[in-house]
Amino acid sequence: MKYTLPRGTRDILPEEMGFWHNIESVSRTLFHLYNYHEIRTPIFESTGLFEGSIGNETDIVEKEMYTFLDKGGRSLTLRPEGTAPLVRAYLQNNMHKKQRNSKLYYCGPMFRYERPQAGRYRQFHQVGVENIGTPEPFADAEVISLGVHLFDELGLTDLSVTINSVGCPVCRPVIEERIKQFIGTNLHFLCGDCQRRFDTKPLRILDCKSNQCKTYFSGLPDIRDSHCQECRDHFNSVLEYLDSLGIMFHINPRLVRGLDYYTRTTFEIISDQLGAQNALCGGGRYDYLVEKMGGPHTPAVGFAFGLERAVMILKSLLDHNHYDDVISIFIAPIGFAQRTKCFYILDELRRAGIKCEMSYVTEELKPQLRQANRLGAEYTLIYGYDEAERHIMIIKKMANGEQHEIELEKLIPYLRAELKA
Ligand code: HAM
Repeated sequence: MKYTLPRGTRDILPEEMGFWHNIESVSRTLFHLYNYHEIRTPIFESTGLFEGSIGNETDIVEKEMYTFLDKGGRSLTLRPEGTAPLVRAYLQNNMHKKQRNSKLYYCGPMFRYERPQAGRYRQFHQVGVENIGTPEPFADAEVISLGVHLFDELGLTDLSVTINSVGCPVCRPVIEERIKQFIGTNLHFLCGDCQRRFDTKPLRILDCKSNQCKTYFSGLPDIRDSHCQECRDHFNSVLEYLDSLGIMFHINPRLVRGLDYYTRTTFEIISDQLGAQNALCGGGRYDYLVEKMGGPHTPAVGFAFGLERAVMILKSLLDHNHYDDVISIFIAPIGFAQRTKCFYILDELRRAGIKCEMSYVTEELKPQLRQANRLGAEYTLIYGYDEAERHIMIIKKMANGEQHEIELEKLIPYLRAELKA
């Protein structure tokens, strides 16, 4: 073979497509039910957008971006996530001037130069929602419950919600100081990334994936003890509202997540079926991102989940797939002269919304019936010299072999009624 896929990418083949369509359509239906509206942004954006939002000292910006210069010398980046582009579009299209609250969702490919492994790709797909303009903890609870509702609808079982609050600009310095004090003299045992982040972004140390570093985090004081009163009240309200909806959650005081824009609530929905990459969905509140991008103060909260990971779980739960590749009708011309008329009927049926196929290669009955069975056809229409003379077709029910004649003009209404039954 001359060319192969770039590392970390994959082809999504027709037999898997049923899962994708199902996830996308259930997501859309539910998002509309919760009054979220779709937005589509470009796949590449100016590099500065991601540096200034996700944060310079994050793995994504430091190591994982697909950044290139275009022919005009502009630095562009394939989007590694959807929140920053959405906020850019929200501001650029003056959505903030039209109404206080915007509820938006998106779906599409994202790109991160990560080490590929099961559930981790360099091109992957996210579906996400962003509730912009609502500071109230109800919005956090709504977003989390929407995620839980969606995964329930999809039949994804054994998921758990983990939640934390990473504070706000008032209490963040206190939280960071406590982390620094705790790490203190052990700093030189931590990895290079942690050592670099110690002075500028100590909170990010908690997100380090190195097992060696993690051993130094045990016994770390609970960051909730350093929250300001507003953050404490906000977090308690989120938890109370989740409780009132019967949503089970687990508080993980070290859940800081790998993007700098979060304030207050952070959460993940995780699945044991995913192995090492166990986060199906991640999100949180980002009350200062809109402002940082040049807009008015506009609190927001949202999440995104990975479609590849959702498909992985669904596949492990089902031993068959949802791909509906059967046809309703197979048309079998008998004899060369009948082919053109059958080709015309094929077109008529398709225009009438009936999924059908015909053989272009043979005019013998037996191989055509075999093909009809292979395609899962419900009925085969047989059209030979005799039938052409009498303006009829023979209609054969494939499940039991029963057959009868039908006049050509009555064919479409008949099939419509039969296929609906
Ligand atoms: P994130 O946690 O970086 O958050 O990504 C969200 C989800 O995308 C992950 O839980 C995972 O399912 C999927 N994902 C991430 N990286 C990969 C990868 N390399 N391969 C396959 N799947 C992956 C965000 O992106 C935030 N923008 C979420 C958000 C929205 N926060 C607020 N609003």
